[in-house]
Amino acid sequence: MFAGRRRLSGALGSCDDAIGVAYRRSVCNNSDREAEKEWDYHMNRLHRWLCQSTMWKRALERKLLPWVLEGIDLGDDVLEVGPGPGLTTDFLRTRVARMTAIEVDSRLADSLKRRMGGTNVRVAEGDATDMPFEDESFSAVVSLTMLHHVPSVALQDRLLAEVYRVLRPNGLFAGMDNTWNIAFHLIHLGDTMVVVDPNMFGPRLGAAGFRKVVIDRITGRFRFRALRAG
Ligand SMILES: C[S@@+](CC[C@H](N)C(=O)[O-])C[C@H]1O[C@@H](n2cnc3c(N)ncnc32)[C@H](O)[C@@H]1O
Repeated sequence: MFAGRRRLSGALGSCDDAIGVAYRRSVCNNSDREAEKEWDYHMNRLHRWLCQSTMWKRALERKLLPWVLEGIDLGDDVLEVGPGPGLTTDFLRTRVARMTAIEVDSRLADSLKRRMGGTNVRVAEGDATDMPFEDESFSAVVSLTMLHHVPSVALQDRLLAEVYRVLRPNGLFAGMDNTWNIAFHLIHLGDTMVVVDPNMFGPRLGAAGFRKVVIDRITGRFRFRALRAG
């Protein structure tokens, strides 16, 4: 199933409900050309800590993931894009038969691989905009608080096209991301942050071929569901 495609080195991302401003490079609102350069970003220690923190785990378990998964069926073979340290993977894997997680940050991918050894999860280091999976592989694809870490709208759209490609006919794409506010912006100073506009996300999913798109908003976030054509 792994076809061994292009890999990106480096690290991206942060958890987004906490305070942390220590960054090496600013790629916010990159042009697409800049974004096509090698991704060589670094997640600062505070962000790494926050992504694994009890605070984030509680928010995910008590509120956010039940909201994202409300009323949907992920099926038997689920792909998670951008698992980070894997708090989301921990939650999802107890609810599905088989899971794959693809993470672009080699350190996070390695650590998650070790942690998921012997479980129902296999972990791939790779780029969700160019995935090493066969067409029509998964019953569902889940993206949790990761899209805004993909450094351009063009690359985000490429990720949507890739998700469409690896989904089985009628497969489900579901997830959540943050909406823009000043606190969110400050937290991401110097970090990768191309915020997804929920008003435009439906049309973007439609352009990638998805149907039955539903977007719901709560303060600071939106969730989405969409189906691949049958
Ligand atoms: C903010 S973290 C979210 C982690 C986890 N989903 C959660 O909600 O706790 C975003 C993750 O997406 C990863 N990521 C960003 N772009 C990616 C890409 N193109 N392919 C795979 N992973 C990516 C980052 O390295 C980071 O680990």
